[in-house]
Amino acid sequence: MGSTLIREAISRNFKIVGAVAAREDPNIDKTLREAGICNLDVRIVDPSRIPEAVRDADVYVSFTTPEAEVANLPVVADLGKKIVMGTTGFTDEQMRKIRDAVSSRVPAVFSPNYAIGVNILFRLLRMMRMFPVEYDFSIVEIHHSGKRDAPSGTAKKMGEIISDSRGYTKIVYGREGLSARKPDELEILAVRAGGVPGVHEIIIAGPYEMIRIEHTAFSRSVFAQGALYAAEWVYKQEKPGIYSMDDVLGGI
Ligand SMILES: NC(=O)c1ccc[n+]([C@@H]2O[C@H](COP(=O)([O-])OP(=O)(O)OC[C@H]3O[C@@H](n4cnc5c(N)ncnc54)[C@H](OP(=O)(O)O)[C@@H]3O)[C@@H](O)[C@H]2O)c1
Repeated sequence: MGSTLIREAISRNFKIVGAVAAREDPNIDKTLREAGICNLDVRIVDPSRIPEAVRDADVYVSFTTPEAEVANLPVVADLGKKIVMGTTGFTDEQMRKIRDAVSSRVPAVFSPNYAIGVNILFRLLRMMRMFPVEYDFSIVEIHHSGKRDAPSGTAKKMGEIISDSRGYTKIVYGREGLSARKPDELEILAVRAGGVPGVHEIIIAGPYEMIRIEHTAFSRSVFAQGALYAAEWVYKQEKPGIYSMDDVLGGI
């Protein structure tokens, strides 16, 4: 996501003033040009040099790993820099640490999925509460085989929205053997295959009809596009706190 974001940001006239990668990354201390990412002489630094990387930044945009965010975001928030964070797969404890470090210091947007279409789909799901009780909801997500966490953060968020409105108390992650569906169960199925950037499908089935709503990301640029909308929005916010893409999209 890092290199996709940089390329998308340049094409949208953002100014890139710093770049951070993992300590063991072979591109550390190279410029973005030397790393073959773009034609800029901005140096890629390891996380111990975050203060230097963000010195001239208005917004720090980060897609890394949960462990990296727990270590890095408190440093960025202490420096008073606004944040857009897209990393997924946190434990509750990791997310609590980040919220404690960030929420009273700077405005920040956290979203498990920055695609505009997915966030509008979240809103549609809230409307789906009107289906009668005998309608079942299921979620299927497909991602590239390199994705580390499962189910996706987006599928989990969809699951929370559906569970809140439909009263599901349990999630079943796939089925095997004798395993009939019970009324309190929501199904989430994760598929890992090839290079798929991201597919999320919601199935709503009653006794005599079914609706299937699918969101397909054509490329990872869709997440970069949404994260950059969020960066423009958070730049204008003064009140510290953790905001969502729903806040960014506002009245749309
Ligand atoms: N919210 C969304 O819309 C959205 C969209 C796509 C992905 N994601 C999430 O974003 C995260 C990253 O996805 P990805 O596909 O880009 O994963 P990835 O290819 O594994 O990249 C992770 C990146 O984090 C860097 N990193 C690791 N440790 C770091 C540290 N301590 N400090 C700074 N950087 C560090 C890695 O650097 P090296 O290259 O040196 O290892 C790498 O560039 C995942 O959690 C994914 O689920 C979210």
